[in-house]
Amino acid sequence: SSTNSKAKILAKKDLDKVIIIADKQTSGKGRFKRKWVSSIGGLYMTILLKEKDLSRVKYLTFIASIAVAKTIRKFKLNAKVKWPNDVLIDDKKICGILTETISGKKNYALIGIGLNVNQKKFNKEISNKATSLKTETNKNYDISNILESIIKEFNNLYQHYNKKNYNRIIGIWKRYSHTLGKKIKAETLSGTYVGKAVGVYKDCSLLLKLENGKVKKIIEGDIFTV
Ligand code: BTN
Repeated sequence: SSTNSKAKILAKKDLDKVIIIADKQTSGKGRFKRKWVSSIGGLYMTILLKEKDLSRVKYLTFIASIAVAKTIRKFKLNAKVKWPNDVLIDDKKICGILTETISGKKNYALIGIGLNVNQKKFNKEISNKATSLKTETNKNYDISNILESIIKEFNNLYQHYNKKNYNRIIGIWKRYSHTLGKKIKAETLSGTYVGKAVGVYKDCSLLLKLENGKVKKIIEGDIFTV
């Protein structure tokens, strides 16, 4: 069904540091209850981690997106991270990340990563805003190699997380950023804001300088370049 759903089942069995991988998903999930198209050819994975302090899982989303961007750059493609949880090539989305949490006797973070690898065609709704490694280069890729690289890069960055060195994570994220310096429209639950993306706050919020000169902290939402 969905690697995130499977991760939730495994969390009940008290497992930790498990990676669930699928060749395809029948109910791939995206943020805000959207569907994630999950046909053969993509990489679908979820990293399941025990995490006492769920307030810090946003850094895990950042870590995952950097790990994917670094992996894609190994193929000489200019992958960048889009706040809060996408990876783009030029302006097209190649990867989405859905981080979910489970709280209870033990808390868990599930970091779900969907990367378009060997897909050639996308459905009408997303075809002008999605891409894959195959679409970019006309080559096929070994999904296991890509998986291995993402895990390796995630693990390297996870050392900073373990040491609570969050500034370091945000610093690296900024180097890969597609968002900073751009004029952005942010659609949030509390309204729509337009401004220039001027920074990332220490809690991973996006800082938007509005037209009235005030800086607005965007905690959650969708952003678009305008
Ligand atoms: C988004 O951009 O909205 C996030 C998409 C996340 C998709 C991945 S695919 C692997 C994992 N399992 C899911 O059902 N969703 C995530």
